[in-house]
Amino acid sequence: MTALLEVQDLRVAYGKIEAVKGISFTVDRGEVTTLIGTNGAGKTTTLRTISGLLRPTGGGITFDGQDLGSVPAHRIVSLGLAHSPEGRHIFPRMTIEENLLLGAFLRRDPAGIAEDVERACTLFPVLGERRRQAAGTLSGGEQQMLAMGRALMSRPKLLMLDEPSMGLSPLMMQKIMATIVELKSTGTTILLVEQNAQAALSLSDRSYVMETGRIVLTGTGADLLHNESVRKAYLGEE
Ligand SMILES: Nc1ncnc2c1ncn2[C@@H]1O[C@H](COP(=O)(O)OP(=O)(O)OP(=O)(O)O)[C@@H](O)[C@H]1O
Ligand SMILES: [Mg+2]
Repeated sequence: MTALLEVQDLRVAYGKIEAVKGISFTVDRGEVTTLIGTNGAGKTTTLRTISGLLRPTGGGITFDGQDLGSVPAHRIVSLGLAHSPEGRHIFPRMTIEENLLLGAFLRRDPAGIAEDVERACTLFPVLGERRRQAAGTLSGGEQQMLAMGRALMSRPKLLMLDEPSMGLSPLMMQKIMATIVELKSTGTTILLVEQNAQAALSLSDRSYVMETGRIVLTGTGADLLHNESVRKAYLGEE
């Protein structure tokens, strides 16, 4: 079976500055694939390009057999690709429930949508307890959960998460990681960008290490957890 997502020799530039310099990787169906790397390596740029928010200057992206180069950004979600962006990007004046419903804007199945709101509230109980409050009243970590819950509301084939554990307490981080494992067990394919390399590698099937716009290393999560240079650079070991 072909990969769900295939990125080939992708290049992305901001003006004259090339942030992604020809990277290739695949995300296989049913797997968790992780991109790790130093600040500024190009991870967020890569996800934003896959989502159609940025246009590549070279290379190609194939999702579920379709070349995304010809698909406008607003149609990419309807193909089954959801993106929980870096930072929170929730709508602070809208309620938590309204924010979740925004994630389902393309769906026409009210019963399924209601079921998925309940599912998000079960996954993250704080969202259920406060569903009619303005999302801006949530703490940073709680807003992170809302962003993830909202991304799931489109029932994506591929869920891209950009640093979902950023700013979270260790306990909440464990919760997010457990949620990722749970989503995988229900068949969602995940592309995860994480600074917390230990946690991310422990649960990923395949990982890619990015440095200044290039992929410098790839392997299974377990391989990279045991790789000496990864341990030095990302796990803080001497
Ligand atoms: N809008 C922009 N305009 C100009 N340069 C940008 C812009 N966004 C990102 N960059 C630059 O592109 C490079 C890659 O940035 P990117 O945000 O993709 O990195 P990242 O791997 O996600 O880093 P981090 O781990 O810090 O989130 C960096 O050098 C960054 O400064
Ligand atoms: Mg980033």
